[in-house]
Amino acid sequence: MEYKKNILCIGAGYVGGITMSFIASKCPQYKITVVDINEEKIKSWQSDKLPIYEPGLNEIIKIAIGRNLFFSTNIEKEIQEADIIFVSVNTPTKDYGQGKGKAADLQYWEKTARQILLYSDHEKIIVEKSTVPVKTSLAMERILNSNSLGIHFEVLSNPEFLSEGSAIKDLEEPDRILIGSKETEEGLKARKEIVNIYTNWVPKEKIIESNVWSAELSKLSANAFLAQRISSINSLSALCEKTGADIEEVSFAIGKDSRIGSKFLNSSVGFGGSCFKKDILNLVYICQNYGLTEVANYWESVVKINEWQKNRFISNIILNMFNTIAGKKITILGFSFKANTGDTRESPSIYITKKLLEEKAFITISDPKALDNAKRDFNNIQGITYEIDPYKATYESHAILILTEWDLYKNLDYNRIFKNMKKPSFIFDGRNILNHKELFILGFNVFSIGKKTLTHF
Ligand code: NAD
Ligand code: UGA
Repeated sequence: MEYKKNILCIGAGYVGGITMSFIASKCPQYKITVVDINEEKIKSWQSDKLPIYEPGLNEIIKIAIGRNLFFSTNIEKEIQEADIIFVSVNTPTKDYGQGKGKAADLQYWEKTARQILLYSDHEKIIVEKSTVPVKTSLAMERILNSNSLGIHFEVLSNPEFLSEGSAIKDLEEPDRILIGSKETEEGLKARKEIVNIYTNWVPKEKIIESNVWSAELSKLSANAFLAQRISSINSLSALCEKTGADIEEVSFAIGKDSRIGSKFLNSSVGFGGSCFKKDILNLVYICQNYGLTEVANYWESVVKINEWQKNRFISNIILNMFNTIAGKKITILGFSFKANTGDTRESPSIYITKKLLEEKAFITISDPKALDNAKRDFNNIQGITYEIDPYKATYESHAILILTEWDLYKNLDYNRIFKNMKKPSFIFDGRNILNHKELFILGFNVFSIGKKTLTHF
């Protein structure tokens, strides 16, 4: 088949794998290849057992695989043949050297740029899909255009805004697509190429065009704003617990103001996921580098409140279980960082489990999709068992912690669960998803976030 253009994506992770599969399903005229250094991951993308769980992903892949969607480890050949290269490699927080703990580690990005440089023999458009610090494109362009062959590379920014668990819907009906480029003739021409891909299914008015640095900074800022809403509501949850106000009533009331809006105001045990913390800390680091101390401190407080919220939850458990959980069985229902994904990166449940183990509790972890990742996270640490069946997982437990808002946990037979638990039985609902009054009537002592405690003592 004759393709209009060859598109390559470097990095077959959550973003690269999902976005490219989706674009391929919508645009049969482009040949889309996704490469990765991880051979196992590529094999998995080529098989029926995908490397990640994402609702609707299997169906999307079936439309395009073998037609115009390909997964490969032959990075050299695919770079040579590509006209447009999306780079979607990981950009974690640096855990060494200057900027340790805050700055983005751009080593994978830079290695990719050097590979592109090494294998290219004609001009290409390079698109940053990874979330990167503002001005990264400038550095990349300098590396790429340092070649002696006179090949021109145009670097654009097209940050991804999908959310795990709802990725396919987010891609199908995005709030916006953001494409940043230089405002030179070549930059604008390259920008048009990328716009043309998205107009295959996205209405033109939803495609925002900007300069490249605005696009880079908008991505970091969007994540910071979203996380800031969660920290704001979580900070107020503590005040609710002290005053008798109810965080859900407060959240509902403030969300009705159309200037504020109702989304992202669910109080929780704290936000997780691979990006919020890393992206805010990256923003903080950039501000510090520009001498904007107050701005840096402002955004850093969003992360600090999130850490505090997790610690508050843990202290509440220990305090209310008579100041000791040593030797007690505690069951965690929900381990992924949010519902509808198996991803556990930066999940609050990891931190909470570690802290409870330090208190010498025995932990049983249950989750419909995240048990393999949970086992990997703890790598055979003593004191943890894994059980997918919530009824078996809660058997003879002293306490249940709800850490992910899976629908499954809303409809369990809590009467049956209560009968099989040690008494007094505790539930700590870190997501406010259960019917607390009913649980209290069944005999549970119920603790939630920012709501009245219901105990039989
Ligand atoms: P990921 O870790 O799931 O995937 C990254 C992949 O890149 C890995 O499979 C890794 O093996 C591969 N890789 C690294 N170096 C490579 C190289 N030189 N050549 C080929 N492959 C290489 O990460 P992710 O969650 O997909 O995130 C990727 C980027 O997208 C990050 O910058 C992240 O901040 C951003 N982002 C993520 C999400 C999300 O929901 N996960 C959403 C929006 C943006
Ligand atoms: C987030 C953003 O929503 C995406 O737009 C962005 O593309 C992505 O980060 C990224 O850059 O990686 P994601 O992390 O997949 O997406 O999931 P979210 O739905 O944002 O949830 C993040 C965390 O916040 C979860 O732990 C979730 O449970 C928590 N959360 C969310 C709350 O505690 N309360 C809320 O009201 C909403």
